[in-house]
Parts: sequence; C-alpha cells; structure tokens
Amino acid sequence: MAVDKEKLPVHIGFIMDGNGRWAVKRGLPRKMGHREGAKAFRKIARYCKTIGIKYITFYAFSTENWKRPKDEVDEIMRLFGEYLNEADDFKKDKTRIIFLGDKSAFSEDLRTRMEEIERDSAVFDEMTMLLAMNYGGRDEIVRAAKTAAEMVLEKDIKPSDINESLISSLLYTGGIPDADLIIRPSGEKRISNFLTWQSAYSELYFTDVLWPDFTAKELDKALEDYASRSRRFGGV
Ligand code: IPE
Ligand code: IPE
Ligand code: MG
Repeated sequence: MAVDKEKLPVHIGFIMDGNGRWAVKRGLPRKMGHREGAKAFRKIARYCKTIGIKYITFYAFSTENWKRPKDEVDEIMRLFGEYLNEADDFKKDKTRIIFLGDKSAFSEDLRTRMEEIERDSAVFDEMTMLLAMNYGGRDEIVRAAKTAAEMVLEKDIKPSDINESLISSLLYTGGIPDADLIIRPSGEKRISNFLTWQSAYSELYFTDVLWPDFTAKELDKALEDYASRSRRFGGV
C-alpha cells in the first residue's frame, strides 16, 4: 500500500454491489454471486485491518432488498447466519462489531447472536466493523426523529435542544465518526439509501469492478485517489 498513513480515511463505507451481475455473467444463479461477495467481504475486512483503517462499514442488505425473490433473500440470510457463526474470529482479530439497521426483522436466533456479538466484541477498540443489515438511511433518520420527539414528551429535552449533534447521537452510528470515503463498485453511481446522514461530506469513489472481483489492489487504487483529494467541508 503506497498511501501514507496520514492520508488514510478513518472510516470507509463499502456498498457491496454487483454480486448478481457477477453470477449472471458466468451463467450462474444470482445466489452464487452472493457467496463470492461474502468471500470478498472477508478479504477486504482483513486487509483494512492490516493497513490500519479504524472504522469500516459494509452495506450488506438494505431495507429495500426485501423486494427480491424469496430464494435470493433466503440465501443472503443463510450467508449472514454462517458469518455470525464464525464471527468469534473477531476475538482473534480484536475487532469490535456493530450492526446497523432494524434487527426486529430477523429471526430470534439471528437477533440473539447479533446482540451477543455486539456485547462480546465491545471490549475491542483497534478496529470497528459496522455491518449494515436491514439498513436504510432514511429509516435511520426517522427513528432518530421519533426518539427525539419522545425525549421532548418525557421532558428530558426542549424542542430547541434538538440539533445536529443530538440527531447524530441517536443514529445507529451514534458515537462513530462520519464516513470519509464511500466506495461503490458495480458501475452504479448512486448511494441507494446508504449512510444518508453520515455521507454529507464523504468522498465518493465509483468503479466498474463488480464486488466479488473487488480486491485489495482495487482498494489501494481508491485510497490513492482519496489521498489526492482536497476536502474543504465548505471552507476554502
Ligand atoms: C449486492 O449485489 C448485494 C445486495 C444488494 C444484497 P446485487 O445483488 O445488488 O448485485 P447486482 O446489482 O444485481 O449485480
Ligand atoms: C445497494 O445495492 C444495497 C446493498 C449493496 C446492500 P442495490 O443493488 O440494492 O441498489 P440499487 O437497487 O441498484 O440502487
Ligand atoms: Mg445491485
């Protein structure tokens, strides 16, 4: 990795897109693409750890992805369950894991396991991995607004206390710095409801490579591009 440490993003978000097209291109069922995508996810997460990225978020399943055919959704959930079963690896990787999204849609088994992993990995602070599962950026903001409204009703705060930092703290990502860099493979150039609030000043990187083909080398390219950008946050 050629980029100097100071110019690395603190928080990278990955929109893991292109699994379906990867499979279709090979005459395979779409679910094979999700299997390959899951392998790429493991490799990229490990690579981010070795180069010293502090926060990584993977967009794995959106609130809109339930529209897909049942067998495809079932396969994604199966792969997710498989990952959760081996997630004890976080202990050897010293990685904190946090799930972003509405857990109530998952089976009791998956939910319990997700909560266990969040609790048991909370001791680690070298790297934090955020997995966006049944996540929607708009849904996240609506929830934060509801919580703020309840706080007003309970007289914990006044309406005038509602500000950016309060809303930020009520998001699934409360306490986590905003994404510096968002990477979307697959050729699509949109955000698709990912980190809606947290991407206000993110640098965006798009590539035609499909997610299952996304390698450490591709990530290096994105990091080099990121390192060359001038972030102004509205200043000069
Ligand atoms: C991303 O790959 C994975 C999920 C959305 C779960 P896709 O399945 O969207 O792949 P394409 O966009 O159809 O190629
Ligand atoms: C975004 O990809 C969601 C995830 C990668 C989990 P989609 O494939 O769902 O996005 P659209 O439909 O192309 O916008
Ligand atoms: Mg897609």
